[in-house]
Amino acid sequence: MTKPRVFITRLILESGLKLVQEFCDAEIWPGELPPTRDELLRRVPGINGLLCLLTDQIDAIVIEAAGPGLKVISNCAVGVDNVEIPAATARGIPVGNTPGVLTEATADMAFALLLAASRRVVEGVNLVHSGGWKTWSLDTLLGADMGGATLGLIGFGRIGRAVARRATGFGMRIIFTDPHPASPEPGVVAEQVDFFALLQQSDFVSLHTPLTDETRCLMNSSAFERMKPTAVLVNTSRGSVVDQSALYHALKSHRIFAAALDVTDPEPLPMDSPLLRLENCIIVPHIASASRLTRQKMSRMAAENLIAGLKGIPLPNCVNPEVYSR
Ligand code: DGY
Repeated sequence: MTKPRVFITRLILESGLKLVQEFCDAEIWPGELPPTRDELLRRVPGINGLLCLLTDQIDAIVIEAAGPGLKVISNCAVGVDNVEIPAATARGIPVGNTPGVLTEATADMAFALLLAASRRVVEGVNLVHSGGWKTWSLDTLLGADMGGATLGLIGFGRIGRAVARRATGFGMRIIFTDPHPASPEPGVVAEQVDFFALLQQSDFVSLHTPLTDETRCLMNSSAFERMKPTAVLVNTSRGSVVDQSALYHALKSHRIFAAALDVTDPEPLPMDSPLLRLENCIIVPHIASASRLTRQKMSRMAAENLIAGLKGIPLPNCVNPEVYSR
C-alpha cells in the first residue's frame, strides 16, 4: 500500500519522527534554517500532509500550491498565527496545534525572565565578566521586590493561569485581563480587571495572549505611558504583541524599568536593533517551551495530528473544528 506523502519543514524530535516515518512517505527539509518561500512552494505540490513550524508562513498561496490532495496541516506549536486558518478552513483542511504540553515550561520561562529582569541578573553577569565589579556595596544593581508586588497577566488561558500559580508562591497579588470570563486554578486568588487598570496597577506585566488583529501592537506607547516607571514587562507570547519601537523608547527613557523578551519581531532581531543595546532589556531566542520533555511531547503531538488528518479522523488537537461540521 502506498504511504501518504508529507512534507516536514524541519527535523522534529524522535518521539514524533518515528511515528511519521512509520506511517508516511516523508520528505524532511534538511536545513538548519526554514525552507525559503520559494523552496516551500517547490516542495508542497502533491503532498497529502504538511507538518510545519512557527517559522513557516503557511498562507493561501502555499495551501493552493499543495493541490487538492492536501488533507491536513499540523503546526508544531500552540500558536498558529503563522497559518492562514480561514484559507485552510475554506478548503476543509483541519489545522492541528500542540496545546497543553508546553504550558508549564512556558510558565517557568516567563517566571525566569520576570526574576532575571527584576533582579538584573544579566547585568550582574556582565558586570562580573567584564571585571567591572569591584566590591560588595549596598546599592549595587538594586532591583524590584516580588513579594507583595502586583503581577498583571494579559491573557489568562492555560499559560497565564500557570504563571499565576507560580506567583502565588512568591506572595504576589495577581490581576489579569482576558476577552473571556476566566477563573484561576484552585488555591490561586486573581482578579479580572480592565486593560488600563492592569497597566496602572501592575509592578510586573506578563503577556500570554495569542497574536491576533486585536492584540497586534497591544503594548504600544499609550500602554507604556500608563505603566509604572518601576514596572517590568515580560513577553513569552509573540513578538508582534509589542510595538518594539515604543518599547525601545519606554526603556531608554526609563518610562518603565525593564523588559525581558522570549519573542521578538522579527526573530532573530537584526544585530543593529537598538533593543540589543539596552542594559534594561533581556532578550532570549524564543526558548520558553525548550525543555527536553516538552519539545518531545510537542513533536509527538504534531505527528499524531498529522497522522489523524491523513487517516481522515478528527485531529486530537484541531484549531478549526468547524471543518468537521461542513
Ligand atoms: C508555541 O508553541 O507557540 C511557542 O511559541 C513555542 O515555544
